[in-house]
Amino acid sequence: MATIDKTQQDAEKLAAALAAVKFVKDGDVVGLGTGSTTTFAIKELGKRVKEGLKIKAAASSIRTEELAKSLGIEILDLGFLSKIDISIDGADEFTESLDLIKGGGGALFREKIIASLSKNAIIITDASKKVKKLGAFTVPVEVIPLAYQYVFDQINELGGKGVLRSVDNKTFITDNGNLIIDADFGLIDDPEKLSTDLNQINGLLAHGLFINITSKVIMSEETDIIIFE
Ligand code: A5P
Repeated sequence: MATIDKTQQDAEKLAAALAAVKFVKDGDVVGLGTGSTTTFAIKELGKRVKEGLKIKAAASSIRTEELAKSLGIEILDLGFLSKIDISIDGADEFTESLDLIKGGGGALFREKIIASLSKNAIIITDASKKVKKLGAFTVPVEVIPLAYQYVFDQINELGGKGVLRSVDNKTFITDNGNLIIDADFGLIDDPEKLSTDLNQINGLLAHGLFINITSKVIMSEETDIIIFE
């Protein structure tokens, strides 16, 4: 993972966001991710909407919805959409084969629905997110509370060390009212297999491995924009 300072990282996040927003066209339904990188894109979209861009959007979290609405972006009910034209979201890690770990912000379930609905699922990142193998960042797993111990034990059976996520000493609750287990599998040799294995655990709502779901990653590195697709 490249080491860069925060100002440089924010400049890269902004540059990737601006590059992604250029793909948004009049009339698009736009899926909005969650996180600090996506926030740059939402703010830019808000500016474009004020200048006359006509879009509607679906939000992957309550905080994204609130931000988008405050900028004048119309929000649709995700539960009733059968197609999204383009989505813009961040990632915690990605590889050149477009496998991702997401969910550092806890919005992975809705983010996965948005990516699944998207014709053009764009991920935007700074250069620090690019890895050769996924897994230095733990895999977030959203679990329905009454299945917590079962899912925790199943993750353990798969070789993962789980930790119940808490923030400021309080158990983290997702926008869907669920818990997050951050699961450490070490560096992951076969993310597709792990994704399939995790999907088979009853009570596990979603996990942060995004496999075969991303159209392109737009990464900014210093003054360059690099597109992986
Ligand atoms: C939110 O649940 C995540 O999937 C984010 O997209 C991811 O954590 C990237 O966030 P940053 O853009 O803040 O790094």
